[in-house]
Amino acid sequence: MQTISRRSIVRGAAMTAAAVTIAKPYLAFGQAAGPFTQPPLPYKEDALAPSISAQTVGLHYGKHHKAYFDNLNKFTAGTPYAAMKLEEVMKASAGKPEDARIFNNAGQAWNHILYWDQFKPGGAKTPSGKLAAAIDKDLGGFQAMKDKLTEASVGVFGSGWGWLVQDGDKLTIMSTPGGDNPVAKGKRALLGIDVWEHAYYLDYQNRRPDHVKAVLDTLVNWDYVRDRMA
Ligand SMILES: [Fe+2]
Repeated sequence: MQTISRRSIVRGAAMTAAAVTIAKPYLAFGQAAGPFTQPPLPYKEDALAPSISAQTVGLHYGKHHKAYFDNLNKFTAGTPYAAMKLEEVMKASAGKPEDARIFNNAGQAWNHILYWDQFKPGGAKTPSGKLAAAIDKDLGGFQAMKDKLTEASVGVFGSGWGWLVQDGDKLTIMSTPGGDNPVAKGKRALLGIDVWEHAYYLDYQNRRPDHVKAVLDTLVNWDYVRDRMA
């Protein structure tokens, strides 16, 4: 796993990409039981620029995502959750107010694994194969799907996520607040748009729609999204 030095983060826009290990795209959702480990970033911090700056990626991955793992390990220590896999933690803690902090941190740990993994500089810019067919059948085509996903993401009140979801044999668009996600509701998340302000405020300030458009048009690896279909 790469390290992101505090100094490189503080340097902000002037920083050079920290030394990173370029991992193969990972599918860590089924990782072994805790302690829960943040997977490596699958590209350099500046790989998503200019759509998402190296400064935002450095803070988002190195501080926010890391903190969800740190808190999850802290809050689950000594509980039955510590022996579960990450997805099991989300499902077991969902709907339990007394375990809300575990659910929220597990959800955010999981959500950001998908988030980083679904992007690829130079990746497939349009859906293909069974994904393209399903988008045409269920969501009215690629542009209509992007419009619906943008509307759902931009419309989140406060912090949360917009999602392209496989629900049984049908694709749908949904949004969730905070650290919640489709997995906790028994659905399969194919693509997640993070609209917490930490995802875009340094680069776009209050222009959330511009950020969502940039993500969908320039960063998503649609082959990866296709391969996540059941
Ligand atoms: Fe985030």
